[in-house]
Amino acid sequence: MEIFKLIYTSMATCTVDNNVLSSIEAVAGEVNADLHVTGALLYSSKHFVQLLEGDRNDVEDIFEKICRDDRHKNIIVNLRASSDERLFPFWSMAVIDLDATENELEYSDLWNSIDLSKAIREKTAGVFMDLFSRLSIRVGQCVC
Ligand SMILES: Cc1cc2nc3c(=O)[nH]c(=O)nc-3n(C[C@H](O)[C@H](O)[C@H](O)COP(=O)(O)O)c2cc1C
Repeated sequence: MEIFKLIYTSMATCTVDNNVLSSIEAVAGEVNADLHVTGALLYSSKHFVQLLEGDRNDVEDIFEKICRDDRHKNIIVNLRASSDERLFPFWSMAVIDLDATENELEYSDLWNSIDLSKAIREKTAGVFMDLFSRLSIRVGQCVC
């Protein structure tokens, strides 16, 4: 089956604490799981970067809802592409708060290796694909 991938970046409009991320994780855990949409959501200093992967219509439907969510703004699509495999087959949505102390050490090398504003500005999809590819190897076999 062809796997459609969508990556976007956005900016939080509210204080993003554990409650906000847990509520996103809970909804995604139900909705995405039902549609067999998988992916990862990273949060760091007001920025979200999310990868959604699955059937094209399902991914676009979920993304439409996400776009209407007033907890973030400046939503910029970085990548819409098809491939033949998932990066996060075991994750309805791996939500990682890079500002949390316990994650800072574990994932900071991934995040710090990218120039976020440059990647957003220049829409360099390869930067985010590379980030998610490397992340998928780290979270690999975990089931959320
Ligand atoms: C950054 C961000 C990422 C989100 N990711 C997802 C997601 O992967 N799946 C999902 O169903 N909802 C996600 N949501 C929540 C949706 O925006 C929305 O609140 C949820 O789907 C419920 O929509 P509804 O009330 O229209 O049914 C996300 C929200 C934000 C702010």
